[in-house]
Amino acid sequence: MAKLLLEVLKPNIITNLNQTEINYLSKLWVEKLPRHIAIIMDGNGRWAQKRMLPRSAGHREGANALKRTVEFCAQLGIKVLTVYAFSTENWKRPKTEINLLMNLLVEYLQKEMDALCKNNVKIITSGKIEELPRDAYAEILKAKSVSKNNTGLILNVALNYGSRDEILKAVKEIAALVKDGVYDIEDINYSLMEAHLYTKGLPEPDLLIRTSGEKRLSNFLLWQLAYTELFFTDTLWPDFDKKDLLEALLSYQNRERRFGGLK
Ligand code: FPP
Repeated sequence: MAKLLLEVLKPNIITNLNQTEINYLSKLWVEKLPRHIAIIMDGNGRWAQKRMLPRSAGHREGANALKRTVEFCAQLGIKVLTVYAFSTENWKRPKTEINLLMNLLVEYLQKEMDALCKNNVKIITSGKIEELPRDAYAEILKAKSVSKNNTGLILNVALNYGSRDEILKAVKEIAALVKDGVYDIEDINYSLMEAHLYTKGLPEPDLLIRTSGEKRLSNFLLWQLAYTELFFTDTLWPDFDKKDLLEALLSYQNRERRFGGLK
C-alpha cells in the first residue's frame, strides 16, 4: 500500500512545520522519494552581495543552510545526500576565501558532529581530501571515523572534488590493473568503472538540485548523473529551506523516469 510521507513522519517533526510545508508534504509519497539527492550549493556570494555583506557572511549562512538540509533529509528518510562543498576549481579563489571555507568546514564538523551522530548520520567524502590543509584533513578523518557505524543518512561531502579528475583516476587505476594482468580489456565495464569512483557502493543520484539560478553541472558527478533528474531553483543557497527541498521533491515525484526506454 502506497504511503504518504505525512503519515510516516514523527509527530514532533510535523509540529515544527508551517502550513506551506505541510501542504507540500501531504502530496509526497514515501515510495517516490529519491534515494540519493545531490546538491550544488550555489549563490553564497550573491546572497552576501545583496545585503552589502562580505562574501564570508554568505558562506557562513551557507553552512547553516547545509545544517538545516542535512537534518531535514535525515528526518525524511533520504538515504544519501551528496553536497558539493569545494571543487578542484575552487583553488582559483583568493587565498582568504579558501581559508575561510576550510575554517568553516572545520567549525561545522566540530560544532555539528554530536548532533549528526545523534541523527545517525554517516559522513563520507568524495575527492582528494589528503590535499586539504592539515587541520581540515584531520577533522574530516575524525568525522568519518566517529560516524562510520551510523546507519542513517549518508552525508557524502565532495571536497577538492572534480568529476574529470575522478574519471581519470578510475581510468588510470584500471589501466594499471590491466597492465598487471589482473583484468583483460574485455573485463572493463560500467560496474568496474563505478568501483573505482569515489561514489563506489552508493546508488546513483536520483535528483540533482542546483541553487541560485545557474544551470550547469560545473564538473560535478558527470558519470553518476547520466540519468539523474535535474532541478534548478533561483533560491540562493543560504536561503534554501524546507520548502525549497519539498518543492524539489514534488517536482521529482512528478517526473516520468524512462532511463532511455519506453513508458
Ligand atoms: C558557492 O557559492 C558555494 C561554494 C563555493 C561552497 C559551498 C560552501 C558552503 C555551503 C559553505 C559551508 C560549507 C561547509 C562544508 C561547512 P559561491 O561563492 O560560488 O556564490 P556566488 O556564485 O554567488 O559567488
